[in-house]
Parts: sequence; structure tokens; C-alpha cells
Amino acid sequence: MKKRKAPIIAILAIADNHVVGSTDPKRPLPWQRQLPTDMNYFTAATTGNGNNVVVMGRKTWETIPLKYRPLPDRHNIILTRDEEFPPPENVSVVRDIDVILQIAETGLHNEKPVEQIFIAGGVDIYRQMIPHADGVYLTRIHEPNMEGDVLYEDLDLSDWEKFWYVSHDAGGEDKYPITFYRYRRKHDQ
Ligand SMILES: NC(=O)c1ccc[n+]([C@@H]2O[C@H](COP(=O)([O-])OP(=O)(O)OC[C@H]3O[C@@H](n4cnc5c(N)ncnc54)[C@H](OP(=O)(O)O)[C@@H]3O)[C@@H](O)[C@H]2O)c1
Repeated sequence: MKKRKAPIIAILAIADNHVVGSTDPKRPLPWQRQLPTDMNYFTAATTGNGNNVVVMGRKTWETIPLKYRPLPDRHNIILTRDEEFPPPENVSVVRDIDVILQIAETGLHNEKPVEQIFIAGGVDIYRQMIPHADGVYLTRIHEPNMEGDVLYEDLDLSDWEKFWYVSHDAGGEDKYPITFYRYRRKHDQ
């Protein structure tokens, strides 16, 4: 894959039983408020120097409580096919993943440069975007019985090479042990 102006990085957390979420609107992330170390990692990684983009599907956008969206200090982009979807203030709404690939090549029109583009879910968007991504930041949550009915069983990282990882034990406010992994494409070595 040729080098882009801004790399595309998928960032996701997945439990040992492949659970990544839930359709329960009260608890779309089953480990909500039970893994602050992962939440802080997500915030720090996606915010970076304040020149990053976060991309999410319309369903993931709707799981974020109103007071927390758009995610601050990042340019938020929502993917939807709904022509009537009203664009929230200071948020871009796009109808095609090609727009994201274009932004990786050329940056956003107008504003400041884009450093990194984070794909922040959900499963529908990961499935379409990981094949185009330059990196994957994966949190493995070491819990084989995580509750939740949104699964990502077909996540295939066979083309990817782990180049960094850090583990955290459960304890304090963190209910589960986790490992953060970062992957790059094998042929990018
Ligand atoms: N564990 C994690 O790291 C993580 C991260 C994020 C989310 N999640 C979880 O994942 C779940 C949501 O995932 P999901 O797969 O159901 O939904 P999603 O990926 O968040 O959103 C799907 C929606 O995105 C839009 N879309 C998809 N492909 C598109 C394309 N090519 N062009 C334009 N729009 C497109 C469509 O919106 P319209 O229907 O409006 O057209 C589609 O219904 C939630 O439970 C959430 O908590 C987990």
C-alpha cells in the first residue's frame, strides 16, 4: 500500500469471546466505566496532537451520549447512507468510504492538516475499512464470558504483524486484564 499523507488506523477493543458491543442502548459497550485504562488509551491515541480525524458509523455515533459528542479535539466524521441525516454541528457526514480514503490522500478541504485518521467502529465500518487501513490498534480484553450481542468473529489479522504491546492487570477501576497491541501490515516492514 502506498504511503498516504495521513495513515488510516483502526482502533478497537474485543473480548476473548469476540464481543465488541451490545445492542442494548443502555450499555452499548458492555465494559462501560469498567475499563478506564482502555478509555484513556483510546482518548490519548485518537486525540494525538489535535490534528486527527475519527470516523464512525452512524450506529456508533448514536451510542455516544450527547454530552460527549462530538469527541473533542478530533474532527469527527459519521458514515451514513441516509441522505436525510442532519449533520451535527462541527461534524462531517459522509456517505461513502471512498471519501475517507480521499481524505487520507489529500487531507480535509479548508482547515489544518490531518495527521492520522482513526476508524473508531463499529463492526460494519471495521469490516469495510480494515482492508484499507495502514495500522490496527487492538485492545484484547481477557474475558471469555463478556456479555454482549455485537460480535466480530471474522476479524482476520493474518496479513498483519504485531510490533508493540503492553499488558495491564485488572485492579483499581479496571475490571478486566487487557493487552494493547499495535499492528502494521506484514509487507510494510
Ligand atoms: N469495541 C469497540 O472497540 C467498539 C468500537 C465502536 C463501536 N462498538 C460497538 O459496535 C456497535 C455498533 O456497530 P455496528 O456494526 O452495529 O454499527 P456501525 O458500524 O457503528 O454503524 C453502521 C452504520 O454505518 C453506516 N454505514 C456503514 N457502511 C457505510 C458505507 N459504506 N457508507 C456510508 N455509510 C455506511 C450505516 O448507517 P445508516 O444505517 O445510517 O445508513 C450503517 O447502518 C455498538 O454496540 C458499539 O458500542 C464497539
